[in-house]
Amino acid sequence: MKFYNQRESWKSRIGFISAALGSAVGLGSIWRFPYVVGQNGGGAFILLYVIFLILIGFPILVSEIVIGRTAQSSPYGSFRILGRNKIWANFGKLSIFTGFIISSFYSVIAGWMLGYLIEAIFNNLHFTSSIDALNHFHNLSSNPFWSVGFHFIFMMLSILILFFGVRKGIEAKSKIMMPLLFLVLLILVIKGISMPNSFKGIKFLFSFNFKQITPAGILIALGQAFFTLSLGQGTMITYGSYLSRKEDIVRSCFPVVLLNTIIAILMGVAIFTIVFSNNLQPQAGPALIFETLPIVFSNMKFGTFVGILFFTLASLAALTSEISALEPIISYLIDEKGFSRKKASIFSGSLAFLIGIPSALAFGLFKNYKIFGENFFDIISFLSVNILVPIGGLLAVLLVGYRWGMKEAFDNMKVDEKDLFHHKSLLKKYFYFSIKFISPILIVLIILNLIGIF
Ligand code: PHE
Repeated sequence: MKFYNQRESWKSRIGFISAALGSAVGLGSIWRFPYVVGQNGGGAFILLYVIFLILIGFPILVSEIVIGRTAQSSPYGSFRILGRNKIWANFGKLSIFTGFIISSFYSVIAGWMLGYLIEAIFNNLHFTSSIDALNHFHNLSSNPFWSVGFHFIFMMLSILILFFGVRKGIEAKSKIMMPLLFLVLLILVIKGISMPNSFKGIKFLFSFNFKQITPAGILIALGQAFFTLSLGQGTMITYGSYLSRKEDIVRSCFPVVLLNTIIAILMGVAIFTIVFSNNLQPQAGPALIFETLPIVFSNMKFGTFVGILFFTLASLAALTSEISALEPIISYLIDEKGFSRKKASIFSGSLAFLIGIPSALAFGLFKNYKIFGENFFDIISFLSVNILVPIGGLLAVLLVGYRWGMKEAFDNMKVDEKDLFHHKSLLKKYFYFSIKFISPILIVLIILNLIGIF
């Protein structure tokens, strides 16, 4: 089979891992994970989420990387080349569309992080009660100038970084950022655990009450597992296309899944120890971390500094994710439409900014415009993260498992005698069963379940 020419690639495995980690670790683990855990009953939801990561997430990550690396193309080109017809090519377009939609509202929340960074710098995050912290958040997020303004600034920063191309733009930052983020989370975890009644938070996170799991909760756990690994939306296919053929895919992907999960769990521990020691509501939703973290920053030595550091890192983590959500459409415009990287970056970023505006206004001006009782932000994030993303993941495994073929995929994963595939046939079986049966069947059942058919 003929493939595209070898394109620009990461300098090393570490280069790929830091970029993929930069994409995975972001608002999904820092902001979304705690609040969906809080809304869906704690421990049982986390268990489900981890099971989905192992059974479906990791194998799909590996599938997407091998798709991209083999085809050496954007998600559209990859689906077209390996799917060998128009229908599959259009499935590739769908995943590009999903990433693009996600990038539009992702930038809104990332804008909140930037805005809170400014608050932290001006020492505005000192609160004696959580009600004050929550009111402060509501005042800011409902202010159209604040929310659209920071959405704009964040998108401009993303476009600037995208200008510079894949390597220079992304690779360097993750290496410094991840260890620092780890450190700050550890500080928050220790602080959280040392608060009175913090054990209740730990209990909430690690005891399993399966009665609280609803069909929607199952779908949300699945969506979160995909979202946090940047799956189902073309990102990892695109990143795979920049991974050198000399690298072992499994070894390159495993650290991404592991570290990303550890960061999410640490964040959960920090947030829920604070929630339970301050008698707050775990179900606070998107406001959760903005209501809880300032309480800790107000109550600790060097709190202002830790706050500044936290929101700096959260903004940077969001930035490396945002650029990875936009990268599929950019690589599509470059590969298929002949755009220059500059033109493609400006075009996609500006359009995503415009489409994100209603999400930015959903917490203020447009608060009362509701469809099925939900605001614009909730709807677009639910549809993309919980419906489009699992469908994107499903299409990737169907492509590998049934259209392109497992044998071809496995052949393209082999590197040399030292790679994991030569010796560990158990590993091969695990990927085989997951990609061929477990993932597609579970995803279809969960979606049917939600619609009420199953
Ligand atoms: N994985 C990112 C996060 O957890 C979100 C993301 C989604 C990034 C889609 C790229 C594409 O924050």
